[in-house]
Amino acid sequence: MKGIILHGGLGTRLRPLTYAGPKQLIPVANKPISQYVLEDLLSSGIRDVAIVLGETFPELVREHYGDGSKFNAKISYIYQGKPLGIAHAVGLCREFVGESKFAVYLGDNLLQSGINQYVKEFLSGDYDAYILLKEVKDPTRFGVAKFDEYGKLIGLVEKPMKPPSKYAVIGVYFFTPLIFPIIEKLKPSWRGEYEITDAISALIEKGYKVGYSIIEGWWIDTGKKDDILQVNALILDERINRKITGEITNSKVEGRVEIGEGTKIANSIIRGPAIIGRNCLIEKSYIGPYTSIGNEAKIQNSSIEYSIIMEGAQIENVERLEESLIGRKAKIKRAEGRKIIRLHIGDYSEVEIT
Ligand code: DAU
Repeated sequence: MKGIILHGGLGTRLRPLTYAGPKQLIPVANKPISQYVLEDLLSSGIRDVAIVLGETFPELVREHYGDGSKFNAKISYIYQGKPLGIAHAVGLCREFVGESKFAVYLGDNLLQSGINQYVKEFLSGDYDAYILLKEVKDPTRFGVAKFDEYGKLIGLVEKPMKPPSKYAVIGVYFFTPLIFPIIEKLKPSWRGEYEITDAISALIEKGYKVGYSIIEGWWIDTGKKDDILQVNALILDERINRKITGEITNSKVEGRVEIGEGTKIANSIIRGPAIIGRNCLIEKSYIGPYTSIGNEAKIQNSSIEYSIIMEGAQIENVERLEESLIGRKAKIKRAEGRKIIRLHIGDYSEVEIT
C-alpha cells in the first residue's frame, strides 16, 4: 500500500501566512499540519509516500521532509503547480502508484484517531475505493454523500447548495489503480476543478465496490485561522505531556507543559496544556492554556492564551493576546494603551501599538 499527501493549493483563506509558505506547513503544537498526516500514514504501515507540491514555496516542503529518512519513510515528490483539482493531483501519481492500492490524504486535514482502522477495512473488504464520512452542521462546505432510500451510497456531490445528506466527505480516500482511467475522462466542475468526488461517483455508477465508514472522533479541515487554533487546542489537550527541559527561575509551570532545551523562563506563569519550543525567552509573562510557542521566540511582559506564536516571533508589553496566529519573526510591541488585541498576521509582519 502506498500513500499520497496533497500539499498544493493556494490557501487563500490563510493569507498572509500563505504568502510565506504552504498552509500545510503551518505549525500546530510546534509541528507542521502535514507532518501529522505523514505520521498517520506511517502508523497505518504506509511508508512509501508521494507528496504532491503546488506553487507556494514547494522548496520548503522538500526542505522539511527531505527523502523521508528522518521520518522513517520513503518520500518522493510530484509537482502539480496550479491547483487544478484533487483528482488532477491524484492523476499525476499514476506512475508512482503502479499496481498498488493507495491512500490519498489531504495535507490540511487532521483526524483524531488516525486511519489505521480504515486502511484495514479497505484492504480486508476487497473494495475498489473506500471513503470516510462525518456528520457535519454545514455540509455545503464539503463533498457530500448521497444515499438511496435503503441507505446505499449512490454518489457524492461537491459543495452542494442543497445537500443530499449531512455526511461530509473527509479528506482521506483509498483507491486502487482503477481510478486512473476514470480521472482521465473527467471534465472540470463548475468551479473549474477536476473533482475527486466526481471520479468516485463515476466508480459507483459503473458498479464498482465503493465502501465507506462514518468516523468517530474529531476531524478538522484546517482552511481558516479558527480551525488551526481549534486543532492546536485539541492536539495540545490530547497529545502533550509534561516534559520540561530549559531553565526555570522564579516561575510557576502548571499542568501538561512541554518546554524545549535552551529555553529560559523567568518570573512567569505557564499554564498547560501548552508547548514552548527550544531557545525561547519568556520573561515576566503569562502563557495560558492552548498556546504553542515556536523555537527562538521571545515573550516579555505579556500575557498570551489560545494562540500560536511561530518561530522567532517577539512579543513585548502586550497585556492580553488571545485567539491569535502570529507568523515567524513577527514583532508585536506595545507602549501604553489597549488591553486586548486580536491579530491574524503573517511571517515577518511587525505590529506596534502605541
Ligand atoms: O476537507 C474535505 C474536503 O476537501 C472534501 O469534503 C471535498 O469534497 C474536497 O473537494 C476538499 O474540499 P476543499 O475545497 O476544502 O479542498 P481544498 O481546495 O482546500 O484542497 C484540499 C487539500 O488538497 C489542500 O491541502 C490543498 C490540496 N490540493 C487541492 C487542490 C484543489 C492540491 O494539492 N491540489 C489541488 O489541485
